Amino acid sequence: MAKQTVLVSGGAGYIGTHTAVELLATGYDVVIIDNLSNSETAAVEGVRRISGVNVPFEQVDTCDEQALRKVFERYGFDSVIHFAAFKAVGESVHEPLKYYRNNLTSFMNICALMHEFGRPNILFSSSATVYGDADTLPVTEQTPRKPATSPYGNTKQMAEDILRDCCAAYDGMYGVALRYFNPIGAHPSALIGELPRGVPQNLVPYITQTAAGIRECLSIFGNDYPTPDGTCLRDYIDIVDLAKAHVATISRMTQGRMKQRYEIFNIGTGRPVSVLELVHGFEKANGLKLNYRIVGRRAGDVPAVWADTRLANEELGWRAERPLEETLRAAWAWEKHLRKIQ
Ligand code: UFG
Repeated sequence: MAKQTVLVSGGAGYIGTHTAVELLATGYDVVIIDNLSNSETAAVEGVRRISGVNVPFEQVDTCDEQALRKVFERYGFDSVIHFAAFKAVGESVHEPLKYYRNNLTSFMNICALMHEFGRPNILFSSSATVYGDADTLPVTEQTPRKPATSPYGNTKQMAEDILRDCCAAYDGMYGVALRYFNPIGAHPSALIGELPRGVPQNLVPYITQTAAGIRECLSIFGNDYPTPDGTCLRDYIDIVDLAKAHVATISRMTQGRMKQRYEIFNIGTGRPVSVLELVHGFEKANGLKLNYRIVGRRAGDVPAVWADTRLANEELGWRAERPLEETLRAAWAWEKHLRKIQ
């Protein structure tokens, strides 16, 4: 059988690079496009080094329909994984148009060209943020979405709906939205990982930068939540496990195993972990002490959210496997690699 090719938009980013590596390891061909607005070509080099494949890379903005069209003319992929998007929740509140314009235009361009070129499979990178402050936990794919509390979250909901409607309207189009919980960690090679610009907004990069001495002290946002230790509960999913969920989804799509034209899967571990547990887990895994203090709550944080992963386990034949301790070691190994710490 001829090799299947997958277009990975935003493929120089955190989740994109790890997914490209796992696709290549499984025998897929990969084409990476990225406008490098929040990533570096070094990340693509990391993918090439790990895989030993000279993966094609095009610096293309998915909002630029003409440039994107050339990619469709040049490469014969059947599937696209669409990661390319802005993702800073706080920034989206202050610059909503930046988020609506970028995240929705790019996705509509992808859908329109997939339709025009008769390419069937679209995997959209969605988020557990669509559940908001859910009434029941863990959340299943049937748990109602809550009105988005940020333009960023709204673009995820809207893009899911765009994909659902396109799959219903266009014969031969298949879509999957993967709702990620909290992706953390890095590739075991420490050649790729998360590259936050400026002050990290997410917990694990803040922890690793504090351990590296770049940040003085980690602020833990609130310890008065209705949770066992008072800090928020999240479902932290290892980045390599998350990448493998994409491969399982693409296999399902390319092998004609989808049960509906549009499907949704939660991608998490199914295990809630508190902020304090994560901090102490990091200290233990890496044999160091972190400087931290408890401060007030961060606006917009939900007290708890974690996944019911049964649907993904059963339908995708996928489950999260990497122990948290290993993930936290990989996160630190990546930070040390970046900062050239021994
Ligand atoms: N936290 C801290 N200190 C920090 C950073 C985070 O205490 O410096 C806490 C937060 O309050 C929260 C937890 O760590 O309780 C996780 O925070 P993150 O910012 O790492 O992740 P979120 O759960 O807020 O958001 C993540 C993604 C979003 C996505 C959302 C879906 O960043 O893109 O999950 O649930 F929408």
